[in-house]
Amino acid sequence: MKRTSYCGALTAADIGQTVTLNGWVDRRRDHGGVIFIDLRDREGIVQVVFDPDAEHCFQLADSCRSEYVLQVTGTVRARSEATVNANMNTGAVEVYGTELEILNSAATPPFQLDDHVQVGEEVRLRYRYMDLRREEMQKGLRLRSAVTSTIRNFLHDSGFLDIETPIMTRATPEGARDYLIPSRTHPGKFFAMPQSPQLFKQLLMVAGFDRYYQIAKCFRDEDLRADRQPEFTQIDIEASFIDEADIMALTQAMISAIFKQHLDVELGEFPSITWRDAMHRYGSDKPDLRLPLELVEIKDLLKDIDFKVFSGPANDPACRVTALKVPGGAQLSRKQIDDYTKFVSIYGAKGLAWIKVNELAAGVDGLQSPIIKFLGDQVTLDIMARLQAQDGDIVFFGADSFSVVSEALGALRCKVGADLNLYSCDWAPLWVVDFPMFEADGKGGLTPLHHPFTAPSCSVEELKADPAAALSRAYDMVLNGVELGGGSIRIHQPTMQAEVFEVLNIGAQEQREKFGFLLDALKYGAPPHGGLAFGLDRLIMLMTGADSIRDVIAFPKTQSAACLMTDAPGAVANEQLRELNIRLRQSATEQ
Ligand code: AMO
Ligand code: AMP
Repeated sequence: MKRTSYCGALTAADIGQTVTLNGWVDRRRDHGGVIFIDLRDREGIVQVVFDPDAEHCFQLADSCRSEYVLQVTGTVRARSEATVNANMNTGAVEVYGTELEILNSAATPPFQLDDHVQVGEEVRLRYRYMDLRREEMQKGLRLRSAVTSTIRNFLHDSGFLDIETPIMTRATPEGARDYLIPSRTHPGKFFAMPQSPQLFKQLLMVAGFDRYYQIAKCFRDEDLRADRQPEFTQIDIEASFIDEADIMALTQAMISAIFKQHLDVELGEFPSITWRDAMHRYGSDKPDLRLPLELVEIKDLLKDIDFKVFSGPANDPACRVTALKVPGGAQLSRKQIDDYTKFVSIYGAKGLAWIKVNELAAGVDGLQSPIIKFLGDQVTLDIMARLQAQDGDIVFFGADSFSVVSEALGALRCKVGADLNLYSCDWAPLWVVDFPMFEADGKGGLTPLHHPFTAPSCSVEELKADPAAALSRAYDMVLNGVELGGGSIRIHQPTMQAEVFEVLNIGAQEQREKFGFLLDALKYGAPPHGGLAFGLDRLIMLMTGADSIRDVIAFPKTQSAACLMTDAPGAVANEQLRELNIRLRQSATEQ
């Protein structure tokens, strides 16, 4: 007998049918002479009943344990009214088992599937194939499969070709360290795994394919967080003879279609905001616009006060002094404010001054704060007026370098907003545009804010004259405070590309060595082109409400970039190292 139905697909319409099911024992209960087995497959769970009338089956059922693999044949019947389970899709029916075959037994599971929270992520990752049996994990990966299918259809219908690019390649600089592959046939030489298909997709444009996409694995050796994995997946897109507006419209339509089709959510219009505005108003280049809170500049009000903590930065052009008004925050306890002070110190803030607005009508007497005595009454009231403060608010202050204040108050904005649940909507997509081309690298030089193939909005001469002031033709799509995707119009002229390398202090010889193939290709008739890449893992994380991209990747790595299940990375035999012309240093072999 072959399987006739999925367990989770049985409904009242199947009553009276004889069915054959395959699945795993989710639970077995012995109810005074009747055995119930909850049988689970990828579609869900159905209750199977065995009674002593079917004697052979009954004894076998009695011997079943959690996670045994079974084949059951039986009749679908209605459950009695009292036993209907409204929480189960199949809760109106059960299967009366007449044949049972144990296809495989199972050792005692390392954890009960419904106990995953207790066991912790380490055990779940070690026994990932067990963890993936859980409904939540199955749902996430099924959504992922459905979404990639929508993406393929959407891009195919829009004239995009799916073209694979190499995994064994040369470094593509995206700002992280490379994973390297030693070459046996070229002693002492290494392939790099791609941080993205960036250069290959540009070369496909030079080759005339016009519209390319790929659901591409990317590899980056960087510090890991909840939304970063060393190996992750991009929805990578590139097109020729287009501008920013074309790519933004296309990809916005694609993301909107995904949300509509799979979550029945209308994302609506995506506002565009400049990088500068985003940093000023939200302290972040990926602002969470579900929160109505904004940072307000108060530098001009504080230049002449005696309180050095504020007047120092207020008079320094490299600094900012900013206030964040939080409605309802006057209820925060001293302990909570101390915790927020600790929180902003992670971002380098030296303190977190605050004012609680208890009763504005009473003037400064209605305010509560350790700093009013330093600010003076008039300045305090001027700040309240600028912020349009209201009773019940708390105002936090940041005074420091531009980056410390932006990062600290930007992060505080999200944290307090989440703690006090100040969200005004469920989904807030936007575009961030007009990024600077470069940022300081901390060593006196410049480094690209995106990657060095991004086109500047200015001419070669203007770029040469003042590279630090140049803006780029890059755009990021942000959703709920997560950078979902980023891209740009690219440089398609070799002179501009060489100039950008110069600004980055990559000399002529290094340009030739590392990017000669690109500079050559740009000489042979490269069309104007541009594109974008989305993080597929991040998209699915947001769509499922997961806390980490690890939950929507079948076999993710840990925070320290290891696979606990296969114990990778692992040691290799000396023989293999010798073939690769590699000798390990003493310190590496001792670890
Ligand atoms: P970028 O580096 O911004 O751009 O990457 C594009 C998107 O990929 C996702 N992403 C990641 N997801 C999980 N783990 C990571 N370690 C990780 N790093 C990046 C993010 C990000 O927005 N070649 C360019 C794209 C282009 O210009 O077309 C690029 O790779 O969601
Ligand atoms: P102090 O005079 O250092 O005790 O600081 C007085 C108040 O200002 C305290 O509430 C500090 O947390 C706060 N504070 C100190 N430095 C800063 C800063 N750079 N930005 C914002 N608040 C600060």
